[in-house]
Amino acid sequence: MPHPEAQRWDARYRRESDFWLELEPRQLLTSYAHFLSAEGRALDAACGVGINACFLAQHGLRTFALDISEYALRLAKQRARNLNLALEALVTDLSNPWLPANYFDVIINFHFLERATIPVYRQALKPGGLIFFDTFRKRHDRNDNPVYYLDPGELKGWFHDFEIIHYTENEVLPSENHSERGLAQLIARKP
Ligand SMILES: C[S@@+](CC[C@H](N)C(=O)[O-])C[C@H]1O[C@@H](n2cnc3c(N)ncnc32)[C@H](O)[C@@H]1O
Repeated sequence: MPHPEAQRWDARYRRESDFWLELEPRQLLTSYAHFLSAEGRALDAACGVGINACFLAQHGLRTFALDISEYALRLAKQRARNLNLALEALVTDLSNPWLPANYFDVIINFHFLERATIPVYRQALKPGGLIFFDTFRKRHDRNDNPVYYLDPGELKGWFHDFEIIHYTENEVLPSENHSERGLAQLIARKP
């Protein structure tokens, strides 16, 4: 029986592939790329069509790209092939996550929230490894669904014992596929 989120996202990527494929790597990643090592293992969790995963692979990291949408991963693999990059892409349901311990040098989680992944990311990073997190945060003036939106300050709390390299909470302006909303961004290093 297909997972309802997989069906929903497959349909969305089929409909909107041009939009997703034209996105640039997320600014949090490009602005802080100098923190990335040029070798080791990277994970892009909920990678979509692989724009950020390909950026990591281009940087020299052996990159694993996970998503529940098989269609998105097909586009991600095609993109990696076109750029002559190696990408390990796996269909995965991150609502029931498992990752090997002390394995990744960097984990990125962009525009996706599944709270069950956070303790798993923490243990899957090597000591000294980096987490880049950029996702939606509840605004006090809106009735945002707490399942998909972080509470104010919540992200920093999850990584309170890591070295915080960057942390912001902002508003993002509306775009063609979403209304104005809050965003929380964090880069932190595992002790
Ligand atoms: C808004 S997109 C973000 C894609 C990409 N990270 C980016 O920044 O553009 C959210 C992604 O989460 C994936 N997703 C949703 N539920 C998931 C789950 N349970 N497990 C894994 N991926 C999931 C969707 O397929 C989609 O690719």
